[in-house]
Amino acid sequence: MNATQDLKRDHLTLKRVRNIAQRCSEKLYSNKNIPFEDLKIISVVIEEFVDKFHHGKEEQAYFPETINKDNFSEDIRRFLIEHELGRRIAAMFLRNLKTWRENGEKNSREPLARFLKSYSVFITDHTGKEDKFFDIIEEKSILSEQENETLIRHFESCRNHVGGSARIEQMMKLIEYLEGREWMR
Ligand SMILES: [Fe+2]
Ligand SMILES: [Fe+2]
Repeated sequence: MNATQDLKRDHLTLKRVRNIAQRCSEKLYSNKNIPFEDLKIISVVIEEFVDKFHHGKEEQAYFPETINKDNFSEDIRRFLIEHELGRRIAAMFLRNLKTWRENGEKNSREPLARFLKSYSVFITDHTGKEDKFFDIIEEKSILSEQENETLIRHFESCRNHVGGSARIEQMMKLIEYLEGREWMR
């Protein structure tokens, strides 16, 4: 698998996180009971898998490698701005999670539902644009075999940086756990 395919495969996982965030938002809006612990797990998955791991690979390895090719700098600049938007939404979600824990859910339910909805829209929009960008890179064979190898090695160091393959496996288990929760039906 080359570096571009690796990131596209991450996007499939991101879309599962998107579905979880979307469903959870709907259930919060319709006043269904969502355990606090599940909300906490969603924020951990967003922070560690989506942001630190996936966006980290793009920001530290893939984008620096592609930014000087084929006039991609404008696209990449936009992607980086969007990552910041995602971080802001995630931070606001986390802040309201703390309020829920300290003061009860009464005033936190609506903002949490809203930020989860925003985050799901962010993932759909952002991964959609990036997937098109990745398709162009693959169609035009923009990255050489050598560059791909370097990137894959760099991705490995990104993975070690977030706790290694054991931690990523745990992330996948947490996503599966959330998908199996009663409120996901
Ligand atoms: Fe991205
Ligand atoms: Fe991405």
